[in-house]
Amino acid sequence: MNAAIERPTIDRTLSSGTPLLEMRDISQIFPGVKALDAVSITLYPGEVTALIGENGAGKSTLVKVLTGIYRPNEGEILIDGRPVVFSSAQDAIDAGITAIHQETVLFDELTVAENIFLGHTPRTRWKTIDWARMNAEARRLLVSLESAIDPTIRLKDLSIAQRHLVAIARALSIDARIVIMDEPTAALSRKEIDDLFRIVETLKGQGKAILFISHKFDELYEIADRFAVFRDGRAVGHGLLKATPQDEIVRLMVGRDVKETFPKLTVAIGEPILEVEDYCHPTEFNGISLTLRRGEILGLYGLIGAGRSELCQSLFGITRPSSGRLRLSGQPLTIASPQDAIRAGIVYVPEERGRHGLALPMPIYQNMTLPSLTRTSRSGFLKAANEFALARRYAERLDLRAASLSVPVGTLSGGNQQKVVIGKWLATAPRVIILDEPTKGIDIGSKAAVHAFISELASEGLSIIMVSSELPEILGMSDRVLVMREGLPAGLFEREGLQPETLVRAATGNA
Ligand SMILES: Nc1ncnc2c1ncn2[C@@H]1O[C@H](COP(=O)(O)OP(=O)(O)OP(=O)(O)O)[C@@H](O)[C@H]1O
Ligand SMILES: [Mg+2]
Repeated sequence: MNAAIERPTIDRTLSSGTPLLEMRDISQIFPGVKALDAVSITLYPGEVTALIGENGAGKSTLVKVLTGIYRPNEGEILIDGRPVVFSSAQDAIDAGITAIHQETVLFDELTVAENIFLGHTPRTRWKTIDWARMNAEARRLLVSLESAIDPTIRLKDLSIAQRHLVAIARALSIDARIVIMDEPTAALSRKEIDDLFRIVETLKGQGKAILFISHKFDELYEIADRFAVFRDGRAVGHGLLKATPQDEIVRLMVGRDVKETFPKLTVAIGEPILEVEDYCHPTEFNGISLTLRRGEILGLYGLIGAGRSELCQSLFGITRPSSGRLRLSGQPLTIASPQDAIRAGIVYVPEERGRHGLALPMPIYQNMTLPSLTRTSRSGFLKAANEFALARRYAERLDLRAASLSVPVGTLSGGNQQKVVIGKWLATAPRVIILDEPTKGIDIGSKAAVHAFISELASEGLSIIMVSSELPEILGMSDRVLVMREGLPAGLFEREGLQPETLVRAATGNA
């Protein structure tokens, strides 16, 4: 993945100049959690600093301190060597700091341009909104992002990746010197990531300091100059990234060695469970057939836009196919709604797990057991002890990091919230589970735990369809791989001896 890690050399392109921003001994305490414990971090002009750490290490909390959302309990922030205090998010913006968050809030009913300039709309002499200028500026920003999105259309008409570009354009609409990106690439395709990286290069050239958060090491090595590692709210190391091998960084963040091995168990594959025959959708995919057998992990590979998620959604009854047949254990089945699917024992963990899948104010254990209440209730009464036991099993196996299972899900870090979503669907003891990008946003140490658990559930007879854009994950976990390209089947491959190039060729159509 990152064979190109250079051995210790001093990168002469790095400025040794004065820091643009310093955070010194910052502590942020929540009830029962010291999210940041006297951390310090320094950002330099014209450089990208990668902030690395496990789920819950405190990365997003640091971002929220830096953007004026939290007032830290201790510590100070200096810009150009001068102390600053942020009492509000506006203060941070005024100080030249902008952020693309894990969950930037955008408004469906507003236009793209309105979303970009909300809160700082260009005004005419008469203090009315200068629509012409706003749309022109929005278009200019989007073009600089190499996007042809029309600034006058409503946000609700955009795809998820396009919305993300709007969020980025919004952050860049503030003329900031410090740009923070908290997992900006999670929803982007490779082409869009390339575009984003070009923008990052431009920002570097303009002397801006960039703080970049991602769980993907190949991206970090591609874009970052320096790194800082957090662990359990403490800063445990920093340095020049390209001079530091990945192993060393992983050891700093996890406290042990993690090898990217896939704990795939050899499972006796059983009889066909789910048979999909000639499934078609009016616009998204055509002529898809597959057979998923007991204990099998079927990888679903393809480029973003190949129709994989759309196929999964139709299997789960979110959308309806225009034609095609389904059989479950040999019996014909019609799925017209997610309720039908769940009743038949088919569940789907979507890629866009976000906040939609969780009741944020409710405790973890209730979120985990919500869809499986029938299993935890006895004679109609909910048994908290059962719920707790069920939740504990899944929390442990998914490496969930939380002070206790009684804390509200909303207080968990992004990656830990995702583990709750996966856990709650696994806990329903389905026959078929469809996992869409199951480890996106999950740190490298927890990934192995999640993979081991998926593999173990397969060995217990669960049948799994796993959508993933990560080749190592697809190759490491799948018994067979179905490749889709532009909505069409592009090959079915057996695990044995399968090479990454074979999948890439099938996915891109390059012979
Ligand atoms: N509002 C809050 N109330 C209580 N605890 C919180 C709150 N926000 C964050 N925490 C806790 O602070 C810790 C750090 O969380 P943070 O979101 O900063 O992690 P992160 O490094 O961004 O992780 P991820 O990679 O999963 O996004 C976690 O233990 C989290 O549960
Ligand atoms: Mg985070």
